[in-house]
Amino acid sequence: MTKVVVVGSINMDLVVVTDRFPAPGETISGERFLTVPGGKGANQAVAASRLGASVSMVGKVGRDAFGDELLAGLQREGIDTRHVGRAEVATGVALITVSGGENSIVVVPGANHALLPADIAAAEPQLAAADVILTQLEIPLATVQALLQLAARHRVPVILNPAPAQPLPADLLQRCALITPNEHELATVLGRPGAEMASLLPLLPGKVVMTHGKHGAWHARADGSLHHQPGFAVQAVDSTGAGDTFNGALATFLPLGLEAALRHAAAAGALAVTRLGAQGGMPRRDELLAFMSS
Ligand code: RIB
Ligand code: NA
Repeated sequence: MTKVVVVGSINMDLVVVTDRFPAPGETISGERFLTVPGGKGANQAVAASRLGASVSMVGKVGRDAFGDELLAGLQREGIDTRHVGRAEVATGVALITVSGGENSIVVVPGANHALLPADIAAAEPQLAAADVILTQLEIPLATVQALLQLAARHRVPVILNPAPAQPLPADLLQRCALITPNEHELATVLGRPGAEMASLLPLLPGKVVMTHGKHGAWHARADGSLHHQPGFAVQAVDSTGAGDTFNGALATFLPLGLEAALRHAAAAGALAVTRLGAQGGMPRRDELLAFMSS
């Protein structure tokens, strides 16, 4: 069993399904509304746990009803929440509009921004014992920096999913075992918005896994060659959380070797888009293996 620690965000997703996206200033009616657990950190933790990893989560929720519900949800998924703290600010929320399998999202971080370097220090025993640590950018960058320093001291590999993207310092990127942006995030992270993917992929040899939606993923190997993992064809209902499922699966299957882990991650990400909600459609291990051999 891979021991995964996820350090990241926990949100309540307020999801509206519509037949098209509203224009600024326009009011349209939606088809459905649902309140479902989300947040990139929590989604990645749930994905890994369903796929059979032993998962601990480090994060923060508020002392409110959403916080209670999200904490209970993580525990029902079999995730160790002893390092999920309560902050004196509201639980993070994401307002999500889903239309034609695509989404647009506004995140209000709330308690996620109260996850501080001191919380990383407090979780040191769990972090030091991990096989792999997964993190994202919905928590303060100082917290991610503290995490990378602690992980380096214990020689635990960190996968950084740099979303939502911001330009990142070279020393931070160098401390990551892998970074997993999509193509837009890759350009932003490297501070070269608009640059071609082919020119960006080789910039961090061995470290970049770039997700490419339904086209799968690319890995820039340490020797400079590129490896392409094709996508798995599915009927897209909701792409929210597909990247998170990919990351949770990548961490879980990393002991099989990177290219095998990428195959599992691409398949898991594809299954995730077949159902509504970030965590809806995230496969269990047996479901994933059956899908991959079909
Ligand atoms: O990656 C998807 C997630 O991003 C959603 O669950 C939402 O909470 C936002 O954080
Ligand atoms: Na889904």
